[in-house]
Amino acid sequence: MSKKYYITTPIYYPSDKLHIGHSYTTVAADALARYKRQNGFDVMFLTGTDEHGQKIERVAKEAGTTPKAYVDNIVDGIEKLWKLLNISNDDFIRTTEERHVKTVQKIFKRLYDQGDIYKSEYEGWYCTPCESFWLERQLVDGKCPDCGREVELTKEESYFFKLSKYSERLIQYISEHDEFIQPASRKNEMLNNFLLPGLEDLCVSRTSFKWGIPVDFDDKHVVYVWIDALSNYITALGYLQDDDSRFKEFWPADLHLVGKEIVRFHTIIWPIMLMALDLPLPKQVFGHGWLILEGGKMSKSKGNVVDPVKLVERYGVDAIRYFLLREVPFGSDGLFSNESLLYRINSDLANDLGNLVSRTVAMVEKYFGGTLQKGGTATPHDAEIEAVANGLYSKVNQHMDELKLPEALEEIWALVSKSNKYIDLTAPWVLDKDASKKGELQNVLYHLVENIRIIAVLLAAFLPDTSATILKNIGVSDDALTSVDSVRAFGALKQTTVVKMDPIFPRIDVAKELESLEAETAKTAKKPEKKEEKSEALPQITYDDFAKCEFRLAKVLECEAVPDSDKLLKLQIKIGDEKRQIVSGIRTWYSPEEMVGKTIVVVANLKPAKIRGVESNGMLLAVDDGTNLALLTPDKDMADGLRAR
Ligand code: ME8
Ligand code: MG
Repeated sequence: MSKKYYITTPIYYPSDKLHIGHSYTTVAADALARYKRQNGFDVMFLTGTDEHGQKIERVAKEAGTTPKAYVDNIVDGIEKLWKLLNISNDDFIRTTEERHVKTVQKIFKRLYDQGDIYKSEYEGWYCTPCESFWLERQLVDGKCPDCGREVELTKEESYFFKLSKYSERLIQYISEHDEFIQPASRKNEMLNNFLLPGLEDLCVSRTSFKWGIPVDFDDKHVVYVWIDALSNYITALGYLQDDDSRFKEFWPADLHLVGKEIVRFHTIIWPIMLMALDLPLPKQVFGHGWLILEGGKMSKSKGNVVDPVKLVERYGVDAIRYFLLREVPFGSDGLFSNESLLYRINSDLANDLGNLVSRTVAMVEKYFGGTLQKGGTATPHDAEIEAVANGLYSKVNQHMDELKLPEALEEIWALVSKSNKYIDLTAPWVLDKDASKKGELQNVLYHLVENIRIIAVLLAAFLPDTSATILKNIGVSDDALTSVDSVRAFGALKQTTVVKMDPIFPRIDVAKELESLEAETAKTAKKPEKKEEKSEALPQITYDDFAKCEFRLAKVLECEAVPDSDKLLKLQIKIGDEKRQIVSGIRTWYSPEEMVGKTIVVVANLKPAKIRGVESNGMLLAVDDGTNLALLTPDKDMADGLRAR
């Protein structure tokens, strides 16, 4: 019976703004899953989508559609993206599926029946973008400690989960299992920042919105989205369902691979849920770093093309996979820029790997009519390169066990470079000139082809298409020569006939490509009408003139798009005790979602006006430079209603 390996990615929020950074967790998990399969494991690789919550309910409403219709469309796009990226997941779970919904209800009921969930009232802070609850003392400058955005005061009847009851047990577990939270720095962070200061019971139901899994015995409540989402790792396996064979086979998971920002949910709430359900804990939660866009956080409005679909269409799936797996040191952050991507493609893929393969195949054709036998006459350079080839598999294997994917690729590239150097050292074109050196020439080309085979076999998990193409190129198709067992030692290949093919990675003209990318970005970027900024000063005014203007701080309570306009937002604001509505043409730069909670500056005594038939009672202040727009906001936390003077 083969060994089981269960690996998961987080389930993704259905966002229509997926960028290349989002692909990271899934591509990394895919490389690990493929590697385990290649090494004889029976793998279960799960990904999916996390579709409930207040955030989705809000954006769907703003888009004028139902939450389900809204998510269906996006989830479709996400599944297509994973296909495009060659993701080999064995299952895809959507939290709106019945198998998930029913099981979450059962889990909730069970925890309630056994007294781990109880009813009370929640009063505290909630960060809607993060879907997380915070205590007053956890806020940083009154804002969400995770994302720095505004939090909302929430007071409602709620069910609570007794995290506190299990906290000692969890601390003990984490202390005794070093491998459970990785990298180790994240483990210390969880212990010191959350567990040791003491856990409060967790609010696990909401009543102020509807888009969630109803608590089946009290249906004005919906289950807190993280309790819902985390359960996916077992609901997908059939836990508490008629057929729970996969659950029996694969639980506990070997690895939950997650971004560093959600380690907390996976190493505190999730293990406590499992303890309460009397289930074993996952063997490891690994928190990886982020792919960061040069000059700041990744977002689509930035100049770079960061749309994963566009990038794959332009450069091919394996160029993107290679970049992601090579550029983000496992556990810390990596940088994305078009330049660094193009550099990797040209240098590592087109030059180093691509040239090695095409030069070797061309020489086998030219000097041996395409068919090569093992053997020939040894050269003084053989021992060194054979040593690198012989040691490669075990080095790659060790890095993969430690989830060090970039290091594994580096090792493979060490053999690529060594092989290119071997060509220079042995100079086959010189050997070819001397009939007595035919034996050496054969031996040299054999070493190259055999190294390429080892490289291609070990690349299969990372760059599946490229690996297959290279093997075809060197005429290797026999299972016995494509297995990892066949690359433990140099020399398994006996004879082969190569096939001439196009270069696997065409070289890119970087200057031209960057220019074309810029043009592309300019075309797709939102284009506000160019404004002539008046630089000449206006006539002077007296203080009395100024004093006629009432600039006040206002807090945005609600915000939605004005129907049939792609520029206008309708905001419900609070100016001290007063509430009113204003309309503003800032939608190109601000989503309704991110406006909520902001403190802005408004001209409060501006005569009311109707904009597109919608009443606007005042005007907010902002600056724009023709391409970008920024709101004026106080630079400290100040109460709304205050007047600027
Ligand atoms: O957090 N670089 O979903 P999500 C690297 N639904 N990884 C990135 C990234 C970047 N720039 N941006 C996003 C959620 N990711 C929850 C999970 S699990 C029970 C619920 C990664 O769509 C992120 O770190 O916000 C995470 O691993 C994944 O994309 C999904 O994030
Ligand atoms: Mg996120």
